[in-house]
Amino acid sequence: MRVVALFSALVFGVATFASQAADPIIIKFSHVVAPDTPKGRAADYFKKLAEERSKGRVKVEVYPNSQLYKDREEMEALQIGAVQMLAPSLAKFGPLGVRSFELFDLPYVFPNKETLYRVMDGDIGKKLFGLLDAKGITGLGFWDNGFKQMSSNKPMHSVEDFKGMKMRIQSSKVLEAQMKALGANPQVMAFSEVYSALQQGVVDGTENPMSNLFTQKMHEVQKHLTLSDHGYLGYAVIVNKKFWDDLPADLRTTLDKAMKDTTVFERKIAQEENDEALAKVKAAGTTQVYTLPYKDRVVWQQALLPVHKEFEEKIGRDFIQAAYLTALQVEKEKAAKPAAPAKKDKPGPVKASKPAAEKK
Ligand code: SIN
Repeated sequence: MRVVALFSALVFGVATFASQAADPIIIKFSHVVAPDTPKGRAADYFKKLAEERSKGRVKVEVYPNSQLYKDREEMEALQIGAVQMLAPSLAKFGPLGVRSFELFDLPYVFPNKETLYRVMDGDIGKKLFGLLDAKGITGLGFWDNGFKQMSSNKPMHSVEDFKGMKMRIQSSKVLEAQMKALGANPQVMAFSEVYSALQQGVVDGTENPMSNLFTQKMHEVQKHLTLSDHGYLGYAVIVNKKFWDDLPADLRTTLDKAMKDTTVFERKIAQEENDEALAKVKAAGTTQVYTLPYKDRVVWQQALLPVHKEFEEKIGRDFIQAAYLTALQVEKEKAAKPAAPAKKDKPGPVKASKPAAEKK
C-alpha cells in the first residue's frame, strides 16, 4: 500500500513539474492608449521579441485602451501584482510619492529630444528608477511620445486666451501649476474619460502629443489646436519588483535585452507617429491648426518659467539643474555643427533655459 502511495506521489510530482515547465510565465502588460500609438506599437513589439527570444517561456498579454485599468488603478494593480508590466506617462508617478518624475512635466524645460534622451539615459534616469525600489517597482526603460500641443474649442494664441478655460490635465502638480500660470482652470481626469468630457463640455480643452489626440478622436470634438510644444509626454516602462526579481536570471537578461531593443524601436517611431497624426488631423478638417510663432512662444515661456522655481524643492534642484545643463550642452554641440535644413510644419526652436544660478 505504501509503495503504491509513494509511486503515485512520484508520478503526480513528475506530472506537475512537467506541466509547470511547459506553462509559460504570463506578463500582463496594461496600458491606457490605442494600439496604433508609439506606446501601443512598442508594447506589441516587446511582446513579439519577448515571446520569440524566450522561446515561449514567456507570454506577454497586452491590454490597451484602459481595457483592464484606468491610470491610477493600473499603478495599484502593478503594486499588488494583478498585472506585471505598465508604461505610465511620467506625469503619473507623482501620486505614487515620487515627485521627482515631475521634472518631465515642467513647461519648456526640454528644448529637444536629444536633451530628453540624455537625461533619461543618464544619471537622472538611473536615480529616478532608484526611487521606485521602495514602492515595489522596477524601472526597465524610458519610452518617448512627444511634445504636447494645446487643443480647445476656441483659439489659444496668446496667454490671455487661456483665462478661465477648464483644461484637462494628468494627475501632476506641475501640470496643475502650469495651467494656473496660464490663467486656466486645471481639471485632473483619467485619460479614458477625456474624449467624452470634451464632447460633453465638462472641460474646454486639453494638452497631449498629436498621436494621443488623433487616436482618441479628440480632434472631432476640438475646433482649435495650437502647436506649442510647451511640454513633454513620455513613459517609464515598469514591472512589479518581486515578479521581476523572482524570474530565472537568464530569462531576466533576455527580457532586459528585448526591452532595450524595443526602446530603440519606440524612440524611432515616436516622431513618425506624431507627424502622421498631425497630417491626419489636418486632413480631417475638423480642427484649425495654428503654429505658435516664435515671438509668442517666448511670451508663453515667460509666463510658464516661474513654475520651474515653484517646484525646485519638490522635484529636486539638482534634477532641474541637470536638465538645464544638458540642454545647454546639446545646444552648444548643435551650434558647433553645420545647421540642418529647417523642417516644415514644426514650430521654431525655443532656446534652452539658462540654469537658475545664471538667472539670478
Ligand atoms: C498616455 O499617453 O499614456 C496617456 C496620457 C494622458 O493621460 O494624457
